[in-house]
Amino acid sequence: MKPIYFYIFLFLMYWSCKDHTAASKLQQKTGLITENAMVVTARKEASQIGSAILEQGGNAFDAMFATEMALAVVYPYAGNLGGGGFMVYRLADGETGALDYREKAPLAANKTMYLDEAGNVIKGMSTVGVHAVGVPGTIAGIFAAHEKFGSLPVKELMQPVIELAQRGFTVTEKQHKKLVHYDSIITAVNGKTILFNKNVRPNDTLKNMALAATLKRIVMNGKDEFYKGETARQLISFLQDKGSIMTLEDLERYEAKWRDPITFKYKDYNVISMSPPSSGGLCLAQIMKMIAPYDLRTYGHNSLKSIQVMVEAERRAYADRSYFLGDPDFVDIPTDTLLSDAYLKARMADFSFDRPTPSSSISYGDILGYESEETTHYSIVDPFGNAVSVTTTLNSGYGSKLYVDDLGFFLNNEMDDFSSKPGVPNVYGLIGGEANSIASEKRMLSAMTPTILEKDGELFMVLGTPGGSTIITSVLQTILNVVEFDMTMQEAVDAPRLHHQWLPDRIRMEVDLFSEELKQQLETKGYDINEASAPITARVEAILVLEDGRLEGGADYRGDDTAVGF
Ligand code: DON
Repeated sequence: MKPIYFYIFLFLMYWSCKDHTAASKLQQKTGLITENAMVVTARKEASQIGSAILEQGGNAFDAMFATEMALAVVYPYAGNLGGGGFMVYRLADGETGALDYREKAPLAANKTMYLDEAGNVIKGMSTVGVHAVGVPGTIAGIFAAHEKFGSLPVKELMQPVIELAQRGFTVTEKQHKKLVHYDSIITAVNGKTILFNKNVRPNDTLKNMALAATLKRIVMNGKDEFYKGETARQLISFLQDKGSIMTLEDLERYEAKWRDPITFKYKDYNVISMSPPSSGGLCLAQIMKMIAPYDLRTYGHNSLKSIQVMVEAERRAYADRSYFLGDPDFVDIPTDTLLSDAYLKARMADFSFDRPTPSSSISYGDILGYESEETTHYSIVDPFGNAVSVTTTLNSGYGSKLYVDDLGFFLNNEMDDFSSKPGVPNVYGLIGGEANSIASEKRMLSAMTPTILEKDGELFMVLGTPGGSTIITSVLQTILNVVEFDMTMQEAVDAPRLHHQWLPDRIRMEVDLFSEELKQQLETKGYDINEASAPITARVEAILVLEDGRLEGGADYRGDDTAVGF
């Protein structure tokens, strides 16, 4: 028989170990956890409206309708009626699909519309003001989704949004800062001070009566109100007064399109993401397939070797994007080859841990500067198990900056996502070629990457983000953070991010979040690093299905983003 102090010692050992395990679990930071349903968006009010629709018995598509419109009210920076977007869905029974409500070039658009007589790009013409505006797709998109899958009447979905526009929402500090930042350009474009201006202070209540009236007319007359009705007429007369080439016929002919999503395997996971005219799914698939043979888990999160593998795969995928991708209704994209194992293996054949592969050896081009841009993503899981992943945008913050006073919304500057001239970069520094040149009624190439993951045939993750060219690589890193590096959803969203897009041949890193030692290691290998002038603007909104079936939200701390659910 052992003395009593031996058992006391064992007991203390047990407790100290137990406490230690508990403590390390506690150190894992989790986002909101709910039992049944969740909506994660860029603003609390929009997440609340979406979640309330689900609580009323609506499904993910009903919540999408209300959430998209609520974002147009509380987050006019990117939420919109005057823009477009993409949605990827997965139904509870496993059916998947995608909806394209991307803007289109007007009928009168043509390849050289942004060039001067000497053939040079006219600065600002595709980014600011009336000539930058593509035919908006958002209202067509939410109605198409609702028509196919919605269960509650539009009136019920729009009611809380109209009330929000009438009652007003509280302006946040971050929102105020953006209004100050953009004030001079918004005022210049509109020729006057509009509702959204630098004098709107944090904590002010902002009402948008004009938008409430537009939304009411849409409830009464449906999608046609926006594309053929009073709203359409007002919008076109507003645009034409300012010299736009857009006509009523452009609006009448606009249609959202159901597309087959890009689906591919990454280890135990099935990834479902957006197909062209977004480059998101295809690029994500190429990158993930190129990195799959490497043991990132052993290399470690944001370690030198993991970063090298990611960056080299990104460089190659973005080079392909620039050459091959465009609107699939206009160009033949060699999707099967681009995603084939043999092609991607050959693509990585010259990769070495010893040194970077210079982008100039893959292709070449000149790159100019960047502007900070905005888009927004929301992720929804409903109590029935349906999931919806939506990224929607005006392109830049407040789009073209052109605001239709009487209708209460901003118009996009999505025309800049076309390649105005082969080899000349757009605001994201992305270079396009013939495949993404402008043509009448063509959709401009996008990087938006609304994505859904399955594991063992079940829903696993719903995610996406704004961020221009950094969208694809931010979605990539968020997925890897969970599936390779065992992070919680919130940790995966919060983790520092980096980006490479082939050209410029440079790794963009989030400012002050990476160690000096790591940066030095990369520089010693021969990588060029840029932390200063090109911020990563991604803000990921994600939902993870936990092992016990509950949901964990990941709402990006970089914005006012919030998860709401029950
Ligand atoms: O479709 C695209 O790829 C761009 N118009 C997205 C813009 C964007 O993400 C801006 N956000 N920061």
